[in-house]
Amino acid sequence: MDRKLFIPILLGTVRKDRQSEKVAKFLFEQVSKHTEIETELFDPREMDLPMDDEGGYSGLKEKNTKWRDAIIRADGLIVIAPEYNHGYPGSLKRALDVLLKEYIHKTVGLVGVSAGGFGGARVIEQLVQVVRELGLAVTFSDLNFFKVQDFFDENGKPKEEAVYRRVDNFLEELVWMAKTLRWGRQNLPSKYNQ
Ligand SMILES: Cc1cc2nc3c(=O)[nH]c(=O)nc-3n(C[C@H](O)[C@H](O)[C@H](O)COP(=O)(O)O)c2cc1C
Repeated sequence: MDRKLFIPILLGTVRKDRQSEKVAKFLFEQVSKHTEIETELFDPREMDLPMDDEGGYSGLKEKNTKWRDAIIRADGLIVIAPEYNHGYPGSLKRALDVLLKEYIHKTVGLVGVSAGGFGGARVIEQLVQVVRELGLAVTFSDLNFFKVQDFFDENGKPKEEAVYRRVDNFLEELVWMAKTLRWGRQNLPSKYNQ
């Protein structure tokens, strides 16, 4: 492989006291250690997502050039999705909606986060429909963080060791998808590939 895969992480909420920030920090640390991946953490609080505009049609892309340029360069994306009434937060959708063609034929790994015991399984199901319309290819395996308020200790370290194996499995498939699609984008002509 000529250069490392670039797979940014998007945290999916601006809520104060958000617990999924702990998941974002933990995953950022784990992904940063991966020998084949370079990453960057994106926080919708630091993006320009006004309430009276949506999508990339009227200049939001130009107001979010760091995000735009990251996705143009990216081989894939990790989305951290807290579950709000079985759906995704508006702030996550607003951040994703800034771009469209920049995502096409890249992979996405979905990370569900919930206060309940299902680890965001339901928000992931809903998000699959959205990312499909963005042209992203979803991995077979997801990552779930259940009862997130009890998941980490005061230093942000997971209380259970099993999560490290689950993260490894998740990243293994994400890397495979990212490599496969990079090869395809580079070698197989498609009107969608930039
Ligand atoms: C509006 C709203 C709706 C929620 N709905 C659910 C839900 O359907 N299922 C669940 O397990 N947790 C639900 N939660 C709890 C969140 O999953 C919980 O806050 C978790 O920590 C992840 O979100 P956070 O990053 O905003 O903290 C909800 C939280 C909010 C703010």
